[in-house]
Amino acid sequence: MKGIVLAGGHGTRLHPVTLGVSKQLLPVYDKPMIYYSLSVLMLAGIREILVVSTPEDLPGFRRLLGDGAELGLSLDYVEQAEPKGLADAFILGADHVGDDSVALVLGDNIFHGQGFSALLQRTAQDLHGCVLFGYPVQDPRRYGVGEVNVRGELISIEEKPNRPRSNRAITGLYFYDNDVLEIAAGLRPSSRGELEITDVNRAYLARGTAKLVDLGRGFAWLDTGTHESLTEAGQYVRVLEHRQGVRIACLEEIALRMGFIDRDACHRLGERMANSGYGQYVMEIAAARPALRAVT
Ligand code: G1P
Repeated sequence: MKGIVLAGGHGTRLHPVTLGVSKQLLPVYDKPMIYYSLSVLMLAGIREILVVSTPEDLPGFRRLLGDGAELGLSLDYVEQAEPKGLADAFILGADHVGDDSVALVLGDNIFHGQGFSALLQRTAQDLHGCVLFGYPVQDPRRYGVGEVNVRGELISIEEKPNRPRSNRAITGLYFYDNDVLEIAAGLRPSSRGELEITDVNRAYLARGTAKLVDLGRGFAWLDTGTHESLTEAGQYVRVLEHRQGVRIACLEEIALRMGFIDRDACHRLGERMANSGYGQYVMEIAAARPALRAVT
């Protein structure tokens, strides 16, 4: 399975913060925002990942992440010259996906919860059609919204409806089989001129192969789109990290746990950042006996 991180857009709701820097490079407490979405793909076991961003911002991501080899990944980059919509990722990323299945994650989404890694790996291994993740929110009108019947089957998907049929937002993490390339290639721009991910999901729904997995209460799916929500997300990460002494979305730790890199490589990555608490943590993780390492 291949991965795509979509890190485009102009982050206008965060102006003036995002006038000089990409939204997905802003800090969420102790690490750049894109670490959180990358961590999701890595926890699913995905190592070949395409980063999609604007021509202005792509160099920043390259500088941060390079070719990914140090994390045991293979990272590629592609420019999205104009904001043509989320589903444009499958047109820009068609060569990257090839004849494989693919997981798309939005670079501004943050997911955190017990057992998430196992859920992601199960989803990646047993994929027919598409798998979406639903999360209960107070104001579903801001999101794609999924409706399920009594048997838990997905029956409708609407993009930012005025009168939502449920409180289940569809999160920015999508697993698709290879049909997504053909579906995306056949899409027409919506009234706002974009190739909508919701139209891709509806195409799967029409084929009877769209599944919605609920991320229930106790799970965190956080927004980072406004000054308020970005600060709240940073506070969430800070509180949990301080209380438990672990780091959320520490890519070096995940690479080690997933067997993408060995302890020596992990230690070297930490050493380079030894002046920060994050770097210290990476070195501690590299040195710790497996039994002492925190559980995901
Ligand atoms: C996009 C999708 C929406 C989804 C959301 C999740 O909206 O169009 O269906 O619920 O991401 O973050 P956007 O945030 O781009 O407006």
